[in-house]
Amino acid sequence: MCGIVGYTGNRKAGPVLIEGLKKLEYRGYDSAGVALHDNGRLIVTKAAGSVAELEKSLNEHHKEVTAGIGHTRWATHGPPTDLNAHPHSSASGEIVVVHNGIIENYRTLRKRLTEEAGFKFKSETDSEVLAHLIEYCYEGDLLAAVRRAMSEIEGSYALVAASSREPDRLVCARKDSPLIIGYGEGENYVASDIPALLAHTRRTCVMDDGEFAVLTPEKIEIYNKDGQMLDKDILEITWNLEAAEKGGYDHFMLKEIMEQPAAVRETLRQRIKRDSGLVELGELDLTTEQILKLDQIYIIACGTAYHAGLIGKMAIEKLAGIPVEVDVASEFRYRDPLLEPNQLAIVISQSGETADTLAGLRMAHTKGLKVLAITNVVGSTVSREADRVMYTWAGPEIAVASTKAYVTQLVALYLVAIYLGQTRGTLEPEKAGALVDGLLALPEQLTQVLSEDNIATIRAYCEHLSRWDNAFFIGRNLDYPVAMEGALKLKEISYIHAEACAAGELKHGPLALVEEGMPVIALATQEAILDKTLSNIQVVNARGGAVFAVTREDFEDVSWQVESIFSLPVVCDTLAPVLGVVPTQLIAYYAAVARGCSVDKPRNLAKSVTVE
Ligand code: G6P
Repeated sequence: MCGIVGYTGNRKAGPVLIEGLKKLEYRGYDSAGVALHDNGRLIVTKAAGSVAELEKSLNEHHKEVTAGIGHTRWATHGPPTDLNAHPHSSASGEIVVVHNGIIENYRTLRKRLTEEAGFKFKSETDSEVLAHLIEYCYEGDLLAAVRRAMSEIEGSYALVAASSREPDRLVCARKDSPLIIGYGEGENYVASDIPALLAHTRRTCVMDDGEFAVLTPEKIEIYNKDGQMLDKDILEITWNLEAAEKGGYDHFMLKEIMEQPAAVRETLRQRIKRDSGLVELGELDLTTEQILKLDQIYIIACGTAYHAGLIGKMAIEKLAGIPVEVDVASEFRYRDPLLEPNQLAIVISQSGETADTLAGLRMAHTKGLKVLAITNVVGSTVSREADRVMYTWAGPEIAVASTKAYVTQLVALYLVAIYLGQTRGTLEPEKAGALVDGLLALPEQLTQVLSEDNIATIRAYCEHLSRWDNAFFIGRNLDYPVAMEGALKLKEISYIHAEACAAGELKHGPLALVEEGMPVIALATQEAILDKTLSNIQVVNARGGAVFAVTREDFEDVSWQVESIFSLPVVCDTLAPVLGVVPTQLIAYYAAVARGCSVDKPRNLAKSVTVE
């Protein structure tokens, strides 16, 4: 979740590092720092706060040097202070490191290095131990020292180290945290994510776990854990830098909400056969026999991706008749689920780097399950460890609050459910055809949902909502997980406490909190149970709650019962969550804007959570 950039070449390293770090601020943004090679010394500048703060404190002279490393931090061990910011220096100052991940045995190492070498530690971080340990192992060759040091480390790392005795040389190591090398002409780069590289190069290489890399301006050498030099494939990046920038919107979140029609189109592309109209998922790579034998699916995910999984469960059970359990990844690992080799695990992760999800994936593997990953990030750890990968193709998602990634995860899950149903014969061809038509209509319908008039409706309601500190989201059946996602979004970016409640459960407790004017967002998109949901809405009305209903344009009964209404185009119950979630995203967005919150980077949160 921290951002790393390294550069060695013939240009001024300072501006290259600063610009790269700005592109990575979504990975962590509570402090930042750079270390620059300068005439046999490593000059470290770091500051609590944003990269812009760091830029201000960077000495003009030091901006001239041509090699260095930079970091933007999301605090895990120790608060966001200047001292805890990276890069960390060794006792003599000859070694500097930037690190993303967690060093689990740092206390033991710290004690040993203090006792044996008399090193003094300056920060509260786990990462600082890496600088001292590398210095302790250093005998004139930084690569050898990093290799020796890493052999003692328990935990995860994406690490870039520099030594004042080896100007122009950067040494990188990776285990369980992403690190990408960028190839230039007479200059080379390393970063924890592609947006930091795109202004300079499209030729990249994703490091694998256990690998080490050495960068100089002229060459890049990558070694495996046994020290053999590797000839790795170059990954040519095809997407643009603008795709990773705001494109005229005030916030990445709004841009990403608006990109949902296009994102869904991409998820569907080439997954529906033109001639038959059937879903075709070559990437699942399961034989008909394997699909017929499937008797249990586990879906494992965190946060928003978990909410997508809840809808995936309902869709798979309904369309393919296979029982599905959905687990928050951090719970899955510790509850001893009854895993058998003929079951399938589906892990869902936008970033493909979430530590708990990855651990769930590995646990499923150890029990012999095949794992399908649904992810947005090509080359991510989840994508490389899973047996099969289904990419959502939503494009880079920068705002911490996930929107287009979620919607495309839903579409991917519907495709899986329909495909399994088709193959197992549990889904009649006409029904499958109608669902496929429904999926193909979604991009256009999403565009309608995002109309200016609809946004005006949301903004008007948010004037009321933003003055409250509590809100409910209610819904039944498929609307309930959408309510959960709406509540999560509202709390994470507007800091309004929001609770999702199965509409039928209101009367068993939560109703006690409803008072005059309290915002209640009611999802009422499910035709089969509309009357039941309406009764629950009436119960709220009777207590004076200010109900904002998200419903279908043809459900006329809803409009006269609520304070505000958001009408969706006609959509079948099964696919309604794809449209229904959008007004809840907009509610969160405009409530957060009205409250003056930091929409794209909410306090205490990070986009990619690579710690357990
Ligand atoms: C963090 C993010 C959420 C995301 C969750 C899971 O909490 O802030 O937006 O849903 O991690 O991330 P993943 O990348 O695995 O989908």
